[in-house]
Amino acid sequence: MNAALHRFPLAAPAPDEAPLADALRALMDARQTVLPKRLVEPGPGADELREWLASATSAPDHDRLRPWRLVLVPAAQRPRLGQAFADALRERDPAATADQLEQAHDKALRAPVLLLVVVNGAAGDPEIDLNERILSAGCAVQNLLLMATARGWGSALTSGKALKSAALRALFALGPQEHALCCLSVGTASTRKPTPPRPGVHEIVRTLTDAGPIDGLHTEPNPDTP
Ligand SMILES: Cc1cc2nc3c(=O)[nH]c(=O)nc-3n(C[C@H](O)[C@H](O)[C@H](O)COP(=O)(O)O)c2cc1C
Repeated sequence: MNAALHRFPLAAPAPDEAPLADALRALMDARQTVLPKRLVEPGPGADELREWLASATSAPDHDRLRPWRLVLVPAAQRPRLGQAFADALRERDPAATADQLEQAHDKALRAPVLLLVVVNGAAGDPEIDLNERILSAGCAVQNLLLMATARGWGSALTSGKALKSAALRALFALGPQEHALCCLSVGTASTRKPTPPRPGVHEIVRTLTDAGPIDGLHTEPNPDTP
């Protein structure tokens, strides 16, 4: 492990540790969605895959429930996932055409690596509600996305109505309290778009004041104007 990471809990970073923060900033800025249709071989090999998946384990996790699972869908199982996607479309649209069903099916065949992210809303302490469990899963997913970016792979999250379908729930043997959150795909990016513009801090932060929460970051003790 990086020496700077070992020292991290002790104090604010020393000046010589600024590169770690800079590297992390650059990594976060570089992460972008590369849709599965643009993710091609080669994907990570077996050792790389294991190391990559391990990055999920440091996600914060209230009461250490580990309320989420990453279900790998290997190449040999993709046609079954494709069938579930097609069945899901037929479930909600009995008039779907053969072309539409084929398109739905083929979405499962893209990207060298495909995981389904599943959260369990019930296992362990019931005081830890679904929101907390999904948040923990989101943190794990972000670890995976950042590690994929650090390794030079393209990555994407995808969702859609099929995730709630009876066909998909049956394929993954989901219990009544389990929810499929999204698919996570990884591979070599065949093309990339420019990274999308990120919002300014003022767009994502509000500050609580005597007058209630106001837009933006206000660090002065008594902001008098919103
Ligand atoms: C839970 C989740 C599900 C998503 N599902 C889809 C999807 O089905 N299709 C898609 O094009 N993008 C999907 N996205 C990706 C977002 O569209 C993307 O993150 C957003 O446009 C910002 O772009 P960036 O990831 O390149 O920063 C999903 C993102 C999240 C967090």
